[in-house]
This record gives sequence, C-alpha cells and structure tokens, in this order.
Amino acid sequence: MSQQKLGLSLLPLGALVEAVALGNPLQLIPPWIPIDSTGHSRSELMLTTWDSPDGPPDGADISFVIDPDPEVFGTGAAVHIRYPRNRDVLECAENTALDGEGTPLDKDTIELILDRVQPKQGARTTVDFKTLPEGSLSVKANVGPFYPDARVLASPSSLPSVLLSSLRRTHKLSSAPHVCLVKTISDAVSDDVRVFKRCTHEFGLDKELQFMTRLPDVDFVLRPTHLVLDEAGLVHGTLSDAHPASSLSLTMERLHPLAFDGSGWLAGTTPSVSWLVKLGWATDVAAAVAWLHAQSIVWGDLKTDNIVLCKDGHCRLIDYCPGGYTLGWCAPEVEAELPHSKGSVKGDIFALGLVLWCIAMEVPTVDTGEEDTVRLPLEWSEGIPGWFQTLVSSCVEDEPGRRPSAWRVYESLLASG
Ligand SMILES: Nc1ncnc2c1ncn2[C@@H]1O[C@H](COP(=O)(O)OP(=O)(O)OP(=O)(O)O)[C@@H](O)[C@H]1O
Ligand SMILES: [Mg+2]
Repeated sequence: MSQQKLGLSLLPLGALVEAVALGNPLQLIPPWIPIDSTGHSRSELMLTTWDSPDGPPDGADISFVIDPDPEVFGTGAAVHIRYPRNRDVLECAENTALDGEGTPLDKDTIELILDRVQPKQGARTTVDFKTLPEGSLSVKANVGPFYPDARVLASPSSLPSVLLSSLRRTHKLSSAPHVCLVKTISDAVSDDVRVFKRCTHEFGLDKELQFMTRLPDVDFVLRPTHLVLDEAGLVHGTLSDAHPASSLSLTMERLHPLAFDGSGWLAGTTPSVSWLVKLGWATDVAAAVAWLHAQSIVWGDLKTDNIVLCKDGHCRLIDYCPGGYTLGWCAPEVEAELPHSKGSVKGDIFALGLVLWCIAMEVPTVDTGEEDTVRLPLEWSEGIPGWFQTLVSSCVEDEPGRRPSAWRVYESLLASG
C-alpha cells in the first residue's frame, strides 16, 4: 500500500468554501452553553442514578457547588450526596426520589443534610445519606479534594502545561459535562479559545497521552496541545484547539434542528450539505482509519461524536479509546464479547461504514430503535449514489471477513470523487 497517497480530501474550491463555512458556525449554539456568572448561589444540580436491570434505580448521586464563581475552576463548596435505595425504611425521602421520574432528593432533605455537614469552600464534601428506621437521618460526611479525579501521571508527558487557576470557563458543553471552552487569563482578550477536557475516572488519560505523544505528526487526529496542572502538579485534564462546529453529530443536529420526531432521527430530511463536501468528510475519516490500520492501530470507539469538523472544513478523529465502545456502533462480533472486547480492525470498519452512512444521510447518529443494536439493512434516502450504498453495506457485513479494508474504502471514495 502506498502511504504517500493517503491524505485529507482535496476539495474543489466551491466545496472547500462550503466545508469551511460549515466548520465555522457564526455563533456557538446549544449544546455549547455560555457561562452565566451573575450571582447564582448554587450551580445546577447533577443527578446520576444507579441503573438496575429491571425496575427503578438502586440509588443515586447528586452533586452541586455552593457559591461558585462559574468561570473559575475549583471555587465554591462542592457537595456530593450518595443515597442507595432504602430496603429498611420503604417510605423515605430517598425512595420517593428514586421512584420519581428523574427527580433528585427533595430540597428540604438536602437543606437538612447541608445544615449537618457545613460544606467547606475549595473542597468536596461527600455525604452518604440514609433514613433510619426511627426516622432520623444518617449523614456520614467526608471532605476531600474539589476535583477527586485529578492525578499524577503514570509516565511524564512532553506536552507543555498551563495552570488550572489560569483558565476561565466561557462555555460548558451540556452533552459532555467534563468538556468546556476556556480562555487563559493571559490571552483572555484574544479569541484563543480552547477545549478543556477534565479527567474523569473513565477517561483513560495516561493511555491517550502516551498514544498521542508517540503518534507521528499526521493530520488525521486532533491532539491535545497542553496538560492542565494545579499548583501541586496534579493533572486535571488536557486542552486542545477548539473547533466551534464540534463533532459531526453536533453538526448534523445543528443543520437539522427539527429532524427529531421524539422517537428517533427522521432520515431523509432535505439535504443541507452538498455531495462533494460529504464525500470529502467521508474521505477524511476513511483516510484516518486507513492510516491508523497501516500502523496496526485500532481506534476503538469510532462514531460521529468522536469526529470533529474542524475550522478548515476537514474531519479529524478525537477520543482514542481502544477497548472503548458505544452500543449501537459495535460490530456483532465485538458486541458478543462485551464488555471485554479489545476492538478490532474489522470492528473499526463496521463503525466506519456507519459513520459514512450518517454523513451521507446527514443524521447525527445511527438508528437503534428500542434496542441498542443498529438496524440493518441500513435505509437510504433518495439521491445517494448506488456505489456509495454498496460500499457502506459492505462495511457493515455481518461476517467480518467480508468487510473491505479501510484502504479499499478510501480508494473507492477517491476513485469516485
Ligand atoms: N477540540 C474540540 N473542539 C470542539 N469540540 C470538541 C473538541 N474536543 C471535544 N469536543 C466535543 O466534546 C465531546 C466530548 O469529547 P470527547 O469525545 O473527547 O470526550 P468523551 O467522549 O466524553 O470522552 P471519554 O469517553 O474519553 O470520557 C465531543 O463529542 C465533541 O462534541
Ligand atoms: Mg467521545
């Protein structure tokens, strides 16, 4: 295979102008939400329920910050309250909350808990809460670091670093709470906005950093530019250049805001993107996967959320995650091994086929209906060339051996362009 030939798509001028315009929306719109720093005494409350396979949740976590400066990280008193389903006292505040449709603990109970624990500024107070049989409340509190997922790196990184205290949050991303837009104090007056991805316990920071650092200088992947450290040297996450269009899935949502009918995305909405641009994006993604596979690298969690439409109108991959997966995007043989699949080259090809389908159909994500498995055969709207449909259908063949290589997909896309 000739690797010299591999590259991002070469669009004719008109298509390039269109792609660049799509990659530079004039305004940041939801799910980017501007930070409102006008006198809120509490941040929005986040609720995470502990799912149980059959029936209502087994427990929940709620978290919020008291008196934060929303632009400055680590300010205010963070509170995290955990409550399991109460098997001893069936009628109690926690079970009422868990049996409600997505409701957190009621306000009065939260205030009672806060009175007892007196959360500390600049720290996180974690509370285990339970109603006792005689009606009193068991409130066990622990005070720990504001950001418990900050960590020491397993091996040093060559990335330059910035201090967390020098960052100012400008927008949050409602679809990914650990991702936000920031400026640094030193260039707060310039437009140099970056994406800050904070460490979470699921985010394989070490693996991603090692991988990105070893990766040769290719243009298919969007890499972190900086590490974010605190004064004690703990790593809080990474910065990367911000691309306002964000992922391909958000781009499709923005292009078709009315295309959601409450149960799924309506395929076949009037196209907004010219075929040449879509072919260019498909070529960018196929080239990226072909290049990775040529280096024996499996990407893992390929999907429209993990592809960014950049300011130059090209698509690049983010979120390297071998062994990561998203239900609905997995090949059948990968799904059969879950949750322990390591991913595979042919698994990437299956997901590549689905990405190409989403691009052609201008939909944000695959259609899984009620189940978490993609509905096959894929449905096509009018106007999408037959050769493209055949190519994509070959990528999502049930039998991995019948799927083409990424290089073949790339060549087929180039040959038609
Ligand atoms: N450089 C960037 N420019 C614009 N948007 C970005 C950028 N990086 C990430 N995003 C947005 O943030 C979302 C989440 O980012 P990412 O996929 O890296 O995190 P994640 O899936 O939550 O990560 P993980 O699975 O590692 O916890 C993306 O789907 C995309 O919408
Ligand atoms: Mg992701």
